Amino acid sequence: MLTAVFLLSSSPVTNKKPIAVVAGDGIGKEVIPNAIEVVKASGAAVEFTHFDWGADRHLADGTTIPPDAFQMLARDFDAIFVGALGDPRVPTNIHAKEILLGMRFKMDLYANVRPVRLLDASLCPLKNATTADINFTVIRENTEGVYMDMGGVFKFGTPDELATQEDINTRKGVERVIRFAFEYARSNGRKKVLMSDKSNVMTYAGGLWQRVFKEVAKEYPDINTQHMYVDALCLQMIRQPQSLDVVVTNNMFGDIITDLAAALQGGLGMAASGNIHPGRTSMFEPVHGSAPPIAGKNMANPMGAILTAAMMLAHIGLAAEAQKIEDAVTQAVREKKKTADVGGSMGTRECAAWIGERVAR
Ligand SMILES: NC(=O)c1ccc[n+]([C@@H]2O[C@H](COP(=O)([O-])OP(=O)(O)OC[C@H]3O[C@@H](n4cnc5c(N)ncnc54)[C@H](O)[C@@H]3O)[C@@H](O)[C@H]2O)c1
Repeated sequence: MLTAVFLLSSSPVTNKKPIAVVAGDGIGKEVIPNAIEVVKASGAAVEFTHFDWGADRHLADGTTIPPDAFQMLARDFDAIFVGALGDPRVPTNIHAKEILLGMRFKMDLYANVRPVRLLDASLCPLKNATTADINFTVIRENTEGVYMDMGGVFKFGTPDELATQEDINTRKGVERVIRFAFEYARSNGRKKVLMSDKSNVMTYAGGLWQRVFKEVAKEYPDINTQHMYVDALCLQMIRQPQSLDVVVTNNMFGDIITDLAAALQGGLGMAASGNIHPGRTSMFEPVHGSAPPIAGKNMANPMGAILTAAMMLAHIGLAAEAQKIEDAVTQAVREKKKTADVGGSMGTRECAAWIGERVAR
């Protein structure tokens, strides 16, 4: 494994696009190498450099992520491919926080893009849902909100204990993610942007989101707009998912509704995501975590990681290879070449190998 101190810069000799890989913990260490094999099978002109940041490294020498890593990643790589972080041996979760939230916050990857696409009707828990019914994208604000870790406790451990957790919403942060959602809609042939908040009770933050949404929408007369409180949106995601197109929301609501959205796609093992700042090195990771109970057992569904790899390739300009990979995953689902979490009987390696073989044809 390579460590953080060395730098491998973009490869002028081969002209391959450099990608940094952090497989991380648990099933991340299984799904990421398998997804990389699928990318290699696609013939994509990319070169992977592996970093061993994660629980093992942290437990061995205390490293979470070296302080200069964020500048190095931004300077030397076109994209970052991450598995999952979280290990019961590190109960504080400090390494996960510093690596994952570090990348999102310190590299200012402000738009978390989570496509919600049903590849085959058999995967959806909703009665009679078709693939056309579930096809929308959630854009989650990724650098603010309650994730900024501001707040505190008073009279800790006493019956009078008081805890606060601040919800930070800046004009700049709200405006740029809402504008990102409209730009995303335009460039992906989408017709509507729905903004979701809880402005009936969170009046200050919600008020800012409401005003900015209306202002930015005026710049995009070709895109329809809608607003929904986040509780009503949850109902809508189940009752009428076909009414959704692009959804933009804050950090916490986006985190929660995309687990619900993952269920519509077949589960956490199927969901992909990108953490994006247009024009900068962006980071791509499956939505799922490190799933300690199934780690190391060849049970993890690699499809979320493989679809994430496809999303990453499309983002760095390798759309044809990305499409080949997506088509092969869809075929695998249809032909039941899948893992147990989505009703199949294959192992992680066997499922990924089948997809890789399809891609290479
Ligand atoms: N982005 C991340 O790195 C990330 C995200 C969520 C959780 N985590 C961390 O992961 C650890 C476990 O968290 P959790 O249990 O809440 O979430 P999880 O996503 O790891 O697991 C939730 C459930 O989904 C199943 N699952 C998840 N991915 C799967 C896959 N690819 N194939 C088959 N089944 C899959 C798991 O077995 C479990 O039953 C914690 O340490 C948590 O902090 C990390």
